[in-house]
Amino acid sequence: MALSFPKPSKLISFSLLLLMALVQSPWDVNGEQDLVFFLQDVTKGPNATVAAVAGVKGKDWSYTTFGSIYVVDDPVTEGPNKNSAPVGSAQGLLVTSSSDGSSLNVIMSIVFTNLQYNGSTLQIQGVSRQNENYREVSVVAGTGRFRSARGFAALETVYYDPNTTYSVIRLSVTLLSSSGP
Ligand SMILES: *[C@@H]1O[C@H](CO)[C@@H](O)[C@H](O)[C@H]1NC(C)=O
Ligand SMILES: *[C@@H]1O[C@H](CO)[C@@H](O)[C@H](O)[C@H]1NC(C)=O
Ligand SMILES: *[C@@H]1O[C@H](CO)[C@@H](O)[C@H](O)[C@H]1NC(C)=O
Repeated sequence: MALSFPKPSKLISFSLLLLMALVQSPWDVNGEQDLVFFLQDVTKGPNATVAAVAGVKGKDWSYTTFGSIYVVDDPVTEGPNKNSAPVGSAQGLLVTSSSDGSSLNVIMSIVFTNLQYNGSTLQIQGVSRQNENYREVSVVAGTGRFRSARGFAALETVYYDPNTTYSVIRLSVTLLSSSGP
């Protein structure tokens, strides 16, 4: 019979499999998954991770001057310390996109090179209000283990040294259900 019910032993092993899947699931009760990483950013000097590449002619190119465009490649680490385990890098563009210079448009890929997510990426996009410490942007897509990712991410500066322009930015990613690894 094509539609016969599985024998009890099969039922048991099936529910065991289901239970194992539930136990191993990275999703929390809300069906969300949180990932936290740290961006190691240096604005100026020989080790700068950010470069100004364009701007409005005749004006300073700066984070607070409308029209300035930067390329960024920040190392991403597991912890706030720059010597903590590498995770990958945050590569993309920052554009001073508000006419008063208060906000940046962030278009960035988190390119993973760690063992867990090697080769996968997360695509981050949105407005970063520079005067606010909590800056929420969108997770619009992903590749590899993050294929079809959707969610949001918070950028928060947890350390800044104005002398060296070195800052550590916490990136807290929340992925919505069925969109993560
Ligand atoms: C740049 O990085 C090199 C290698 O890590 C380091 O020796 C040097 O002190 C750094 N320079 C500055 C200005 O931070
Ligand atoms: C990540 O993948 C690349 C290319 O396949 C490989 O060369 C590298 O060793 C991998 N890194 C880790 C940490 O597995
Ligand atoms: C920055 O430099 C000033 C003057 O040299 C110094 O007093 C201050 O402690 C330095 N700040 C940090 C965070 O190193």
